[in-house]
Amino acid sequence: MSDYISVNKGLNDVEIYKQLLPQLESLIVATEPLITGLANFSAAIYSAFEKISWAGFYFLKNNILYLGPFQGKPACTAIDIGSGVCGKAAKLKQTLIVPDVNKFPGHIACDPESKSEIVVPLINAGNVLGVFDVDSTKIDAFSADDKFFLEKAINSLIKKLNIKSFNF
Ligand code: SME
Repeated sequence: MSDYISVNKGLNDVEIYKQLLPQLESLIVATEPLITGLANFSAAIYSAFEKISWAGFYFLKNNILYLGPFQGKPACTAIDIGSGVCGKAAKLKQTLIVPDVNKFPGHIACDPESKSEIVVPLINAGNVLGVFDVDSTKIDAFSADDKFFLEKAINSLIKKLNIKSFNF
């Protein structure tokens, strides 16, 4: 496998995703442990964009989202389903884009500098397994393009690693 990711950060977001997604395919190895792929997935997304200040997974167990592999500052370790942006995205089973976290009722501020956020739920056969959360210190950093490409990347990750549940 190749563990080298190369993107031109001078390009627009769509072009960066177009460079990044095929590289994610070779970075994630189906025969390696789940945690290995998820760790490198977070690192690849985090390091590809100037605008991203945090990127990582939360795993759902007993209605609580527990912090998983991530890149960025230390973060909240446990979030109730329905709470914050992460808990709400998991409950609704849909991606949430929050342009200004200070205007999102119940937002959980792990990093006071975080200004906007996108959360993509991990869903397999209708079951929510967790979420992938991406933060920015810029207001309104995420658009429908981020939703499209992050959902695409997350869905192929789930398929490739055949993620049915997180046992921990
Ligand atoms: N802001 C999130 C909490 C997780 S951190 O951003 C890493 C939320 O409101 O759910």
